[in-house]
Amino acid sequence: MDELQTQEDVRATPRSIPAPGDKLVYLETFGCQMNKLDSELALQALATSGYRPTEKMGDADLVLFNTCSVREHAEDKVDSRLGLLGIKKNKKPGSVVALMGCMAQREGRALLHRQPVVDLVVGTKEFLELPRLVEEARTTGRRRCADDLDREFTEYARDPRFRTDPHRAYVSIMRGCDLDCTYCIVPTTRGPEQSRALEEIVRECRALARDGVKEITLLGQTVNSWGKQLPGAPDLADLLARLDEIPELLRVRFITSHPNFFRNRFWERVSGLRTFCPYIHVPAQHGNDRVLKRMHRLYTVEKYLDVVAEARATIPGIALASDWIVGFPGETEAELEQSLALLERVRFATSYVFKYSPRPGTPATRLEDDVPEKEKDRRCTLLVRAQEKISLEQNKSARGQVFEVLVEGVSKKNETKLSGRTRDNRICVFTGARELEGRLVGVRVLDATAHTLYGELATSRSLPLVP
Ligand code: 5AD
Ligand code: SF4
Repeated sequence: MDELQTQEDVRATPRSIPAPGDKLVYLETFGCQMNKLDSELALQALATSGYRPTEKMGDADLVLFNTCSVREHAEDKVDSRLGLLGIKKNKKPGSVVALMGCMAQREGRALLHRQPVVDLVVGTKEFLELPRLVEEARTTGRRRCADDLDREFTEYARDPRFRTDPHRAYVSIMRGCDLDCTYCIVPTTRGPEQSRALEEIVRECRALARDGVKEITLLGQTVNSWGKQLPGAPDLADLLARLDEIPELLRVRFITSHPNFFRNRFWERVSGLRTFCPYIHVPAQHGNDRVLKRMHRLYTVEKYLDVVAEARATIPGIALASDWIVGFPGETEAELEQSLALLERVRFATSYVFKYSPRPGTPATRLEDDVPEKEKDRRCTLLVRAQEKISLEQNKSARGQVFEVLVEGVSKKNETKLSGRTRDNRICVFTGARELEGRLVGVRVLDATAHTLYGELATSRSLPLVP
């Protein structure tokens, strides 16, 4: 299975969550976009029972960590945050400490034993029940774990007001994963694939768009396999076509795709859509067939290249992003070189490179984790450097061109500038008035680094300042 990622470079203008409650919740989110979305849904559920968010852990009546298990490091971070709660001034007396997300699901009851400060462990299918569970913990003082993975994830009515970004929103279209990549913990923590009904998704996107959302990112662990269990077996291209009819929506993205599921003339069917954005996150993970086999990725390098060729033949200039794992058990120097070769051959726009981290209970743990940490570091750096060189070349060659940018907000690194993204997902920083937030503008690129385009507002007639 693949996971969900992007980089964030914008100082998001936090929306004030409309919850006039008298209790305070402090929430920290680790991991992927699905977790970010789940955090918003958890806050929405908690608001209905009177919780308002706070930035201060020590003031909170409920301290909630939405956790990740994808690598050991993600779990270590949560443990160190929990350590802080052992210090008196960091924790309000009588407050409830709860964990949700993948680490909560993976460890379950064991977390209660291992971390005495934790009152409540809530699994990935049960976090919408948080208000009831927290109340129960508060009134009975009983420590509890609710981690049933076999239940259906309940449909929820999304209230568009409970989102942190005014212009962009995540919408989950499926949960769980039916694949079994040998390194991956997610099928264990999120269960088998369940697609949401088409009309539910359309309704949610419409409500968000009416509330001012311009860009929606559809989320799923293998987002392009969406729909296969639904009546009539619609596919992602059908869904994208429906969302294209929502007039207020300007852009629709989707993450993360698996190379095997772009079927039924997918590219042809989406290429003409007004809201389609030419950026696809489709992890290759490795450039050697034997390693791909040990990872149980279900494709060969040749097949991956076919997917790339088909996408590019239909949508010239489409940007591709990949995840890579280095130091998978048994990976030789020569095999690593093949990842490097694939990265350079495809010339990805972005690469996310990860050092293999054995996850308890996954099939890959039966193989010896035999690449030393230092060597994993070196291999990681090799791929990162190669990607940076390509990204820099690609971005430099954008100089002089005008790009359509959706203005997201004030730049994180420079408060006098605005930041947004091009349709192909490049971060673009430029000078402009704050009133442009949430609008599409034309930006002429003047300079570039590997990660950012720098530019000025363009007066191009061909790019009207809509909406
Ligand atoms: N170790 C290292 N990286 C992993 N990923 C998933 N599981 C592991 C693991 N056990 C990577 C994959 C995935 C991304 C989100 O994290 O590349 O696509
Ligand atoms: Fe997201 Fe869970 Fe995967 Fe972490 S382990 S990246 S939270 S799905």
